[in-house]
Amino acid sequence: MNIILLGAPGAGKGSQANKITERYGIKHISTGDAFRSNIAQGTEIGLYAKSFMDKGQLVPDDVVVRIVESRLKEPDCQKGFMLDGFPRTLAQAEALDKLANIDVVLNIQSTPEIVMKRLAGRRSCACGACYHTSTYDKDTCEKCGGKLYIRDDDKPETIKNRLDVYAKTIGPIIDFYEGKGILVTLNGDRSISDVFEDVKRILDDIN
Ligand code: AP5
Repeated sequence: MNIILLGAPGAGKGSQANKITERYGIKHISTGDAFRSNIAQGTEIGLYAKSFMDKGQLVPDDVVVRIVESRLKEPDCQKGFMLDGFPRTLAQAEALDKLANIDVVLNIQSTPEIVMKRLAGRRSCACGACYHTSTYDKDTCEKCGGKLYIRDDDKPETIKNRLDVYAKTIGPIIDFYEGKGILVTLNGDRSISDVFEDVKRILDDIN
């Protein structure tokens, strides 16, 4: 099963992806995580990507598409994958169309006021887990014991830019997948487990 998770920054793509991987064992590919791992390793791609990410802008299409293309060729993606944070432009969606068949696009819709609050309180771990200060007050990860950190792009000014970029770019992507008849929109303004109940229903139907 090949899945795309769409949604604004903070809509809960990563949180749902973790639950989907846990239940269905589908490989989670997050372009944001790929860039953050490159940044942590100090690679050339990481340094280049950071200059866009820190301003809340998109990394140019050619770089992102190259990363996804080579990732999808790896053996662990041959039985299915879940893309989180890709595609983010119509050009990326069109490029992906030539690389793979997508079974379903889960579009998690959330209101800007809610995602602002979620991102401002997010605490992330290098293992991929993330928490919110309203429900978790420790500074180490429950899963791996790693130290939690605040993402560089989770500052209020950058969050605003990320939401503006999302609002400007998402329309044609929605139209693209709606046209293919594979887009399902979910109400992301509910709890993580309530959203996941819908996700399960949709994925169990396809399986
Ligand atoms: P990326 O890492 O993809 O970030 P994003 O899309 O901005 O999404 P987030 O990871 O911030 O949010 P999320 O929806 O995963 O929410 P989460 O589950 O963590 O991209 C970062 C940057 O990389 C981009 O700005 C760009 O520069 C670059 N980039 C990446 N991909 C690119 C591409 N394809 N093209 C070009 N550039 C690219 O949840 C957030 C918080 O809310 C957490 O604290 C969580 O616990 C909480 N939460 C989640 N869901 C719920 C819920 N239902 N109820 C209550 N709390 C919730």
